[in-house]
Amino acid sequence: MKRTICAGLLVSALIPGIAGAQKKSISQRVDSVLKLMTLDEKIGQMNQYNGDWEATGPITKDGDKQDQIRRGRLGSMLNVTGVEHTRQLQEMAMQSRLKIPLLFGQDIIHGYRTTFPIPLAEAASWDLEAIQRAARVAGKEAAAAGVHWTFAPMVDIARDPRWGRVMEGAGEDPYLGSCIARARVMGFQGKKLGDVDAVMACAKHFAAYGAAIGGRDYNSVDMSLRTLWEIYLPPFRAAADAGAATFMNSFNDLNGIPATGNAYLQREVLKGKWKFTGFVVSDWGSVGEMIPHGYVKDNKEAALAAVTAGCDMDMESRSYITSLAALVREGKVKAELIDEAVRRILTKKFELGLFDDPFRFCDVQRERQQWNNPDNLAISEDMARKSIVLLKNDRQLLPLSKQTKTIALIGPLMKSVRENLGFWSYTWADDSARIISPWTGIQSKVGNGTRLLYARGCGITDTSTAGFAEAVEVARQADVVVMNIGEAPDMTGEAKSRSSIHLPGVQEELVSAIVATGKPVVVLISAGRPTVFNYTADHANAILYTWWLGTEAGKAIADVLFGDYNPSGKLPISFPRTEGQIPIYYNHFSTGRPAKNDSDVNYVSAYTDLPNDPRYPFGFGLSYSRFVYSDLRLSAPSFHAGGSLTATITVTNAGGVDGRETVQWYIRDLVGSVVRPVKELKGFEPVFLKAGESKRVNFTIDVEKLRFYNDRLQHIYEPGEFRLFVGGDSHNVKEIPFSLIGAVSE
Ligand code: NOJ
Repeated sequence: MKRTICAGLLVSALIPGIAGAQKKSISQRVDSVLKLMTLDEKIGQMNQYNGDWEATGPITKDGDKQDQIRRGRLGSMLNVTGVEHTRQLQEMAMQSRLKIPLLFGQDIIHGYRTTFPIPLAEAASWDLEAIQRAARVAGKEAAAAGVHWTFAPMVDIARDPRWGRVMEGAGEDPYLGSCIARARVMGFQGKKLGDVDAVMACAKHFAAYGAAIGGRDYNSVDMSLRTLWEIYLPPFRAAADAGAATFMNSFNDLNGIPATGNAYLQREVLKGKWKFTGFVVSDWGSVGEMIPHGYVKDNKEAALAAVTAGCDMDMESRSYITSLAALVREGKVKAELIDEAVRRILTKKFELGLFDDPFRFCDVQRERQQWNNPDNLAISEDMARKSIVLLKNDRQLLPLSKQTKTIALIGPLMKSVRENLGFWSYTWADDSARIISPWTGIQSKVGNGTRLLYARGCGITDTSTAGFAEAVEVARQADVVVMNIGEAPDMTGEAKSRSSIHLPGVQEELVSAIVATGKPVVVLISAGRPTVFNYTADHANAILYTWWLGTEAGKAIADVLFGDYNPSGKLPISFPRTEGQIPIYYNHFSTGRPAKNDSDVNYVSAYTDLPNDPRYPFGFGLSYSRFVYSDLRLSAPSFHAGGSLTATITVTNAGGVDGRETVQWYIRDLVGSVVRPVKELKGFEPVFLKAGESKRVNFTIDVEKLRFYNDRLQHIYEPGEFRLFVGGDSHNVKEIPFSLIGAVSE
């Protein structure tokens, strides 16, 4: 506390008019600081280094970072967390001439201390409140540990499950992705920046990183601007509109221009059209990586390209710190450009309250309160249950009775502990005590009367079937078998692209051996991405896709297995039958030769050896309830711009248990001045229905729901015929036609 007051006074004393500055606006205060800064100090603010403790990218070691902090040559650090560490470094910043506080950033992707399901899993909940709550907890825990800034949410649309980073986003759909982007930004940033429980959000990776060719990480992106605007940019726009404090650019080039040096994206679209007032940080080393891209010849040109394009902070390239001053002196970079970037960065430091108290996020007490906090764990369990997707449930095998006499628990992930956290999670010394494995979750759920047997069967990537005999023997003794198979957690994530997304090793052979016993088989699949598991899909009696569910995984799995939670998850991304179908997404265009059905291969757009359809479509997910859709109506068959239509449908829970259904509304524009998708998600609504209960659900159609980007990138609507679809997934829908009367929009 003593230090706090001191630092505030020192900064105030140095800056004329800052004492009593509380009355001044942040922009005036920023200007006052800027006036005092040398060029080197300004460039220092645009420089970000990794701490020496953890790395999330290749380390370039040079110089003494601590000395650079003391000389005001560093504005921010990443991968430095904990009250103790952040305080130490902030104290060094307070020894610099102007005592400008450091910003500490960290990848808080799905939880900090309490780990939540991976973002793709959370997206499967389609529950925006729950997602926002999860991000809120993550923000709180991180802020309590001295972190000011999370490099999340990742809002990249992904249509290619080979791309390892598919796990970090919200899947394939721009509408769902936008809703989730907003929820996550609001969750991280809380009521307002400056509260001690709020961290700055960072929408990343700007832009189109999710379309890396071939699903290979760091690869190029080549796409029409129409696709960029219609599919890839909406979640970024939603994040900006929700007040995301920062954006991160990306490793990929977009149509030949690296995103980091892309003035169209950063200056014209983000800071221009969208009036974004926060700052843009590069991705790790992405300024310097424009050299191997072949876009610039050296670090100096890289710095010039990036700063000109609107990248305000250089993460770990050291291009700015080494070259910007010379570029300014040579007149290649205008001093105003530097001032603009620094102004954006300082503004956020002021908004966070760091100039008033650089140590306000360094409270040991608060940090401890968030450690293993029972409220946070309960929120994580709730999120985990909602993320699970029931893919199959033949003859209502699930839920299992808690009185089942003997259950065989089989598979390489059944006793997994740390694996459940997935990629982008942190290891704490006492982790093992807190993470609940499926085995432990099930054990605590069943009564003493239930005998649990266990066999591992095989490892995730094993090629040996040596453990099968024991597993089969265990299965034979049981009334029902529950298997947990999947990927290893480090198979999806950054730099984890895979050409094959089939379940690895002999795991499906293990399923086959167990199925051959004739016992009812439930399969839990844990993975970070959509995987291919055709044998299991055809032969297991029930399948739950359990992703990586975080700290409370085992509890959530047991809740669903035994019916204490009725599964409600819906896939946020299509699951292909095999890699040959990739990229696969529900909102594709209609071709000139569409296939009439799955077996139609007669000179139509189809594979001769596979249906076009995915194994599981976007939006799909079963429940222990059975939801029936009936009586779809429209308030009128047509409407004029300025007016609207109301659609209504009855949803009935025809099952025997209460349940939650996500009602999904899709629209197709039948004829357009550019070809339109066969379906586009335009709205969704969760409904909770008691067994036997029915509800009318409404949906309003106005021209905003019909807009699209034409070939001149105008966001227009056109009169004509449309179809409205509604259902519990993107394939199984009721439909009704409607039309828009009048002229094309301006
Ligand atoms: C590289 C990743 O692409 C980015 O998402 C992450 O925030 C940075 N490394 C920092 O760890």
